[in-house]
Amino acid sequence: MMTENGWPHLNPLMRASVLLAAVLSAFAQTAAPVINPCGIVDAASYGPVLAPGSIAAIFGSFPVGSPAEAASLPLPTSLSQVSVRAGAGGAAPLFYVSSSQINVQIPWELAGQSQAGMTVMASGQTSAPQTVALASFAPAIFSVNGQGAIQDSSFRLIDASNPATAGSTAILIYCMGLGPISNQPASGAAALTSPLSETTNTPAVTVGGVPAQVTFSGLVPGLVGVYQVNAVTPANAPMGDVPVVISIGGATSSSVNMYVQAPDTDQSAGALLAQMTLDEKLQLVHGAYTFGGPAGPLNAEEWVPGISRLGIPDLLYADGPVGVYSSLGPTTALPSSMANAASWDLDEAYKYGAIIGAEVRAYGMNVWLGGNVNLGGREPRDGRTFEAAGEDPLLAGSIKAAHIRGVQDQHLIGTLKHYGLNDQETGRLLANAIIDERGARESDLLAFEVALKNSNAQSVMCSYNLVNGDYACQNDSLLNGALKGDWGFSGFVQSDAFAAQSSVASALAGLDQEQPGGYYFGGVWGESLDTAIQNGDMPQSRLDDMVRRILRAIYAAGLFNYPSAVGTIDTDAGAATAQEILEQGAVLLKNGGNLLPLDASKVGSIAVIGAHADVGVLSGGGSAQVAPTGGAALTLAPECPSSAVGTSALACHNASEIYDPSSPLKAIQAMAPSASVQFNDGTDSAAAAALAQSSNGAVVFVSQWESEGMDLDDLNFSNNQDALVSAVAAANPRTIVVMENGGPQLAPWLGQVGALLEAWYPGERGGEAIANILFGSVNPSGKLPITFPASVNDLPRPVIPSPSSASSTTPFAVSYSEGFNVGYKWYDTNGIEPLFPFGFGLSYTTFAFSNVSLTSSGEQFQVSFDLANTGAVAGAEVAQVYVGLPASTGEPPRRLAAWTKVLLQPGEKQSETLTVSSNDVSHPLSYWDVNSESWQVASGDYTVYVGNSSANDSLTVAGMFHIGQ
Ligand code: BGC
Repeated sequence: MMTENGWPHLNPLMRASVLLAAVLSAFAQTAAPVINPCGIVDAASYGPVLAPGSIAAIFGSFPVGSPAEAASLPLPTSLSQVSVRAGAGGAAPLFYVSSSQINVQIPWELAGQSQAGMTVMASGQTSAPQTVALASFAPAIFSVNGQGAIQDSSFRLIDASNPATAGSTAILIYCMGLGPISNQPASGAAALTSPLSETTNTPAVTVGGVPAQVTFSGLVPGLVGVYQVNAVTPANAPMGDVPVVISIGGATSSSVNMYVQAPDTDQSAGALLAQMTLDEKLQLVHGAYTFGGPAGPLNAEEWVPGISRLGIPDLLYADGPVGVYSSLGPTTALPSSMANAASWDLDEAYKYGAIIGAEVRAYGMNVWLGGNVNLGGREPRDGRTFEAAGEDPLLAGSIKAAHIRGVQDQHLIGTLKHYGLNDQETGRLLANAIIDERGARESDLLAFEVALKNSNAQSVMCSYNLVNGDYACQNDSLLNGALKGDWGFSGFVQSDAFAAQSSVASALAGLDQEQPGGYYFGGVWGESLDTAIQNGDMPQSRLDDMVRRILRAIYAAGLFNYPSAVGTIDTDAGAATAQEILEQGAVLLKNGGNLLPLDASKVGSIAVIGAHADVGVLSGGGSAQVAPTGGAALTLAPECPSSAVGTSALACHNASEIYDPSSPLKAIQAMAPSASVQFNDGTDSAAAAALAQSSNGAVVFVSQWESEGMDLDDLNFSNNQDALVSAVAAANPRTIVVMENGGPQLAPWLGQVGALLEAWYPGERGGEAIANILFGSVNPSGKLPITFPASVNDLPRPVIPSPSSASSTTPFAVSYSEGFNVGYKWYDTNGIEPLFPFGFGLSYTTFAFSNVSLTSSGEQFQVSFDLANTGAVAGAEVAQVYVGLPASTGEPPRRLAAWTKVLLQPGEKQSETLTVSSNDVSHPLSYWDVNSESWQVASGDYTVYVGNSSANDSLTVAGMFHIGQ
């Protein structure tokens, strides 16, 4: 049809009829108002029952021109010539009228009525009445876009983009129908601000079916007919889009939904902190030990009483690094941590931690103190070398991170220790480690950084020693600076037992918890922290931060959701893991003429000599001592060296030499049932040599005990064991030496013996694991995580620095002038040939690297190679990637940057690609720049090496690349 100015093209008559139709339709709007059947509903729920004071929506057809809204309060009772009568309540206040909907308040005057007849009047005509059911309580929650009209305390609507946090978010639920109130406004009038109109009954609110604490219920000030219920999102509310329901006076609303998210640990900690008194805060920041006082609950060696009114659990602490500390009772005696590091296998390390965690938990403890990541290679005579994971920050940090993950996955707090530069036991309470900032950051501190960032450890223990003049536990640069500042550590710093030296100074430097008692923080030996706050010596905010960190750790580790409970130890699982750990971590150091593996059918007779190998295997002492399942095979007095004097040495003198109940002699006999296996205890070298001479072969066990509280005088085996080995080897060239020791040892008889196996402290299935390796049931694949020097004279400090006298209380300097050149970096830099290099270990098969190349270079490079098993038996090789930084940096020739352990069948070849990124937490391409106090990648040439140890002759250059100008 043609059109003209928007009108259809019509003749005049037809136009007239259209106009008439329009007039008729206008006339039709003045027809009587009609309320739809069941057209009066609650405006929030659309339900048919209303409570006085609520808002109703009336649907129908009403003779209203254009919609109109009430423009001011109190609401009018007539709007656009429309009014509504609500039975005995009279004229209802009007919010809004249109031709299809009218919104009114049900007058308060209807309270007590069960129903009301409603009529709409418009243009002088009245609708037929319609009855609405009334109740005192008809709770109904408003909704917006399908979600509840529920806000947080900042008046942001709670929805998927702004979820409420379980346990902390205060919610405002907008609703109606909550019944009688105090300070009731007139119908149509706004609710008052002061005093607030509160409901006379308190409603119950559930969020996701879980009761919520209600903090307010009343009318929304300034609005008509709208109630507001304030509640707290319950801590145990389910997560996600969950229903909210209000009940009051026996009536229950229909549900609307809101979003709930799990609190982050920070929010949870903050919410709990806000409820704590000063005394309660003080209680959490120190242990409860008192001299001569009882042990903690369940015999915990250290503990912090919880706060039951807030559900904060007791913190019950257990050592140690190689299994649960003996004071709690028998547990799995694992091989030493060093043995585990020698597997270069993070899955094995995780299993190690998981076993310890499960057993710590079984004793009802919930804080583990065993994450010793001190760099052993700086002082290999350190009596605690066996507790740690070697000399390389990347390897040691990664192994310890896996231990912590294994532990914390059992819902325990894991602790890294001893922070920092705690590398000798001699004078450990007075030793003042002097080191340059870059040296520290790139060595001992880097091991902590890697361990922390790869594990989310919730606790760090500061050490006894001083670092650059300040005690580690009141060392601002270590605690506030590197740990909390640069690495973003959000957990808590606890002192080693009695390592705190002050109250306020320590707290201000970053110590969060004093152990084992409150000697300083609790005011026994100084100004308690609460007094310090009252005196203005320490801000309240610092105590709050200390407590928040502890609470955060409790939340992060899951101690609230998984309360500690005494359980049973799976001794079989522990034993199996202990055996596997040693089978993966024992290192074959020599195998002349392929003396090993032994052929059980051919050995004929074997002399087993020394180290109590008839009954057991040695373990390390101190707070890492485990009481092995089944009881010790042998308990001897500690052999503390003459240098172990004074208070620093107490842990040694209080220790025992424990042999775990796993007899290598019996295990060897079991592997070779038809062989004649005889034992000689090795105390008489001549007798031992005679037995060796009359046997087809000899296995000599040598052991070196070490412990917390002592350093080894040297790296020789004590008690004439070196002479024993020489005598036996002289008598029988088929002499195999098995070493049980904590860290590096010298082997002056190396040239005389046929084979040498490093079995570390072998653990409670050490005998079986050793026998499996000697007879080839297991092919050794361990690699040294620490260099074995050729002489103590090659160490940075041939003589261990010590205090001026046993009774001295004056700190003494231990100069770490080698800086970052720890372990192989020291030997490489100085061109010193070690006895065995870092990363070294043999196999019963042979491996070949080929096609070693860089497939990409720069700050994120990839190195590829083929690795083949060229021998006759299956075996695993650890392919190691080292990087040399530009000479201008002054860095050592190489640093470990990556590795992978590959299991290959005979003849099998596998392609591997490893990626190294400068962004990795180990900063593989960076140096610590003291000017900018940050990690920097230098301009210059980088060389990438691949091989199976750190020694130059076992490495292939994969390629070089240039970064920068
Ligand atoms: C050790 C720590 C141990 C603490 C608690 C100290 O003697 O140095 O490693 O965790 O005691 O037993």
